[in-house]
Amino acid sequence: CGIVGYIGTCQAAPVLLDGLSKLEYRGYDSAGIAVYDGNKIQMQKAMGRLKVLEEMTQNGATLPGTVGIGHTRWATHGAPSDLNAHPHFNKDHSIVVVHNGIIENYLKLKKKLMSKGYEFLSETDTEVIAHMLDYYYNGDPLATITKVMHRMEGSYALGILFRDYPDEVYAVRKDSPLIVGTSKSGNLIASDVPAVLKYTRDVYFLENEEIVKLTRDGLHFYNIDEEELEKEATHIDWDMNAAEKGGYEHFMLKEMHEQPKAVKDTLTPRIKNGDVVIEELGMTDEEIRAIRKIFIVACGSAYHTGVTSKYIFEKLARIPVEVDLASEFRYRDPILPENTLVVIVSQSGETADTLAALRLAKEKGVRTLGIVNVVGSSIAREADNVMYTWAGPEIAVATTKAYSTQLIAQYLLAMKFAKVRGTVSQNDFDAMIQSLERLPEQISLLLSHKENVQRFANRYLAAEHVFFIGRGIDYAISMEGSLKLKEISYIHSEAYAAGELKHGTISLIEDGRLVVAVLTQPELYKKTISNIQEVKTRGAFVMAVTTVGNTEVEKVADYVVYLPETNPIFANSLAIIPLQLFGYYVSIGRGLDVDKPRNLAKSVTVE
Ligand code: G6P
Repeated sequence: CGIVGYIGTCQAAPVLLDGLSKLEYRGYDSAGIAVYDGNKIQMQKAMGRLKVLEEMTQNGATLPGTVGIGHTRWATHGAPSDLNAHPHFNKDHSIVVVHNGIIENYLKLKKKLMSKGYEFLSETDTEVIAHMLDYYYNGDPLATITKVMHRMEGSYALGILFRDYPDEVYAVRKDSPLIVGTSKSGNLIASDVPAVLKYTRDVYFLENEEIVKLTRDGLHFYNIDEEELEKEATHIDWDMNAAEKGGYEHFMLKEMHEQPKAVKDTLTPRIKNGDVVIEELGMTDEEIRAIRKIFIVACGSAYHTGVTSKYIFEKLARIPVEVDLASEFRYRDPILPENTLVVIVSQSGETADTLAALRLAKEKGVRTLGIVNVVGSSIAREADNVMYTWAGPEIAVATTKAYSTQLIAQYLLAMKFAKVRGTVSQNDFDAMIQSLERLPEQISLLLSHKENVQRFANRYLAAEHVFFIGRGIDYAISMEGSLKLKEISYIHSEAYAAGELKHGTISLIEDGRLVVAVLTQPELYKKTISNIQEVKTRGAFVMAVTTVGNTEVEKVADYVVYLPETNPIFANSLAIIPLQLFGYYVSIGRGLDVDKPRNLAKSVTVE
């Protein structure tokens, strides 16, 4: 979910709606705003995309007032509906709340409140907060909020209005992101920076259990003991245009085309005089040599970059690597021996499970390194060290450019470790640097052939099941290719290690079934070709993605996409491009909302 709030000299509703439009990537099941005109707090909410709410309120005109809060929802507790949409009121509409996060003990709290006569209109955990604030309200908003904080378990970023205080907006966070922006025409809160960039570049990052009171011309920060805090603003210097479509039909298409630049921006500052220099690593050569084990922990596509780099770290630096889904790692009591490095990969830096995994690793006393795209995000701030990926803001829910830069960061890290540990020859290292530097232009070349992929994709708009196969790094690429397709086209797809297919899944192959085979690893070409043969014999239609020159594939595959030559360990950076394009064109060919696929959100701040 995403929350916003505003108090100032302008009409609040249009500011809130505009802010929400920048946060829609966080969820878009429903949206709502509450605006206070000094007399009455008025609320409007609607199921569906933000545009439904915009139409309903005539872009905010029906809700006058200069103070307000808003919300865009990704449903957790309670189905998407008008009633479950935020904001939520207390019983006499004197307190209103928007919430991002999950209140884990809400059932217990709800029971208690019901026994005191409180009635609930929605199924949400958030409504409990509104009634709790009502229950503890004693005329002092700050004291009431801290009392409620002591009773809530879970994660929350809240925006709150009190009817008794028409010139104040309150906000608080614990384990869900929240920023505060300050400008001449008013002050704002939001779940993420893009929502306030139109008004200001000066933002404050709220820490856990901090509370802020916004007035028209001032900000007051407090801790949970109600002591006032001094906080410093951060100046945001990335460009607002980066969060606009810039002539492309969709954010995803724009972001795919930004990959050459994003890759270059992540790579170039870290290559100096033919060497890999990662200043922000904060590790001495001795410490690097002492590493005995690496864990790479992440969710979704970020996890897939970890699966790829496991092969690379092990091959180049000879360090054993475990790759974990953050939601599994955090609950399996992982064994983290001394001299373990935990690498946490996250575009947003806010994914709840990933953040929890980071905290667990820190608690266990091992060194942590974040690979993060959003500057100043929770993971970036909490990891011992952070290596930023310079992809810029990514808006489309399905990641492309952030994924590509996460790969680059991990290539660099593996090379650095290999060099320091003496597990790679200088010649091989030099050749790798050259290969890396060619990637941006090779990605551009692949993107320039997008129409070929589009033509092929158009033949598969009605597919029901698709299988992606590969071995080694090609298996990791298959995982991401498969996810890209299924998340935006709603076609069922699976990735399999090519050699594993015959142990069950091959029974699903029948006439015309599309199988996408990835073959970029020379020592595995022949093996995968045999696997293609196996599915071909059973009627599959095969699209192969392979390196230029490997024409043998044409004998078994029906359609071949050739990739420029690179060092095979970097092949993912090239092979993923046609697979991203394939997912994209199938999605738009099927008339779907490619930037905002159903049921998903870009930044998942609940576990
Ligand atoms: C969501 C997004 C995915 C992303 C995953 C991890 O599920 O839809 O695209 O890979 O979260 O996000 P992170 O911000 O931690 O990289």
